[in-house]
Amino acid sequence: MMKFDVLTLFPEIFKAVMGESIIGRAQGNGLIEINTINIRDFSKDKHRKVDDYPYGGGNGMVMMVQPIYDAYASIVEKCGYKPRVIYMSPQGKTLNQELARQLKENEHLVLLCGHYEGIDERVIEEIVDEEISIGDYVVTGGELPAMVLIDCVSRLVPGVLSNEGSFSDESHFEGLLEYPQYTRPYEFINRKVPDILMSGHHANINRWRRQQALLRTFRKRPDLLSELELDKQDTDLIGEVLDDSEKLSLKSIKGRKM
Ligand SMILES: C[S@@+](CC[C@H](N)C(=O)[O-])C[C@H]1O[C@@H](n2cnc3c(N)ncnc32)[C@H](O)[C@@H]1O
Repeated sequence: MMKFDVLTLFPEIFKAVMGESIIGRAQGNGLIEINTINIRDFSKDKHRKVDDYPYGGGNGMVMMVQPIYDAYASIVEKCGYKPRVIYMSPQGKTLNQELARQLKENEHLVLLCGHYEGIDERVIEEIVDEEISIGDYVVTGGELPAMVLIDCVSRLVPGVLSNEGSFSDESHFEGLLEYPQYTRPYEFINRKVPDILMSGHHANINRWRRQQALLRTFRKRPDLLSELELDKQDTDLIGEVLDDSEKLSLKSIKGRKM
């Protein structure tokens, strides 16, 4: 069982989103646990204030040290050890599938969600082990980023997805994008499902899927392909479906002869 404790000013946001579908079911089955801790509950101010103006002036409000620290301390007191604390931050390391895989190895993660202009730097220095970003843009609070992290890490926890194979074939699992998927009907506005998928020949279907995964990674995300070591089989496979100018561009991406 993997446990997430989320320090936030807006716990309701989590209940609405994380209670549904696969992640909701995983909680129901005891595979993951998501607790929200309302930072405001730890404010010592009579108006339950949690933010203040920035020292040195400037825009917006900054979340104060004390309520966040005390909310964190309440988790430590309850579990009896110092759990790994991640601050969701646009200044952090960018979340990707490999990082999600590493995070899955933790039994317990604490996610700290900032809001407004962010949080007092001293909280980061005192309690945060790692800052993680969901991309090079800024959203209003750490709640959506924390939910993205919880979702992508949780689906790697054994048993959360009904079919474990469904993520090992998926985009980014081994650096490739996934092949195209089809379901019924067979024909839609004159577009038919590729014949190979109707053949029932599994070896040929797997070969076609591998070829399509290579092809679409090359066309949509050449940056990903440049990171991969392609063996001769893969190079031959993608070579079958590239035109001459694409072959040249693949050669320059891979920096070697096809
Ligand atoms: C408006 S942002 C503050 C941004 C901060 N002033 C800065 O420039 O780095 C408020 C909060 O949203 C969260 N946040 C915003 N963008 C994020 C991103 N790309 N990834 C993760 N968290 C993000 C962080 O928790 C942050 O404290």
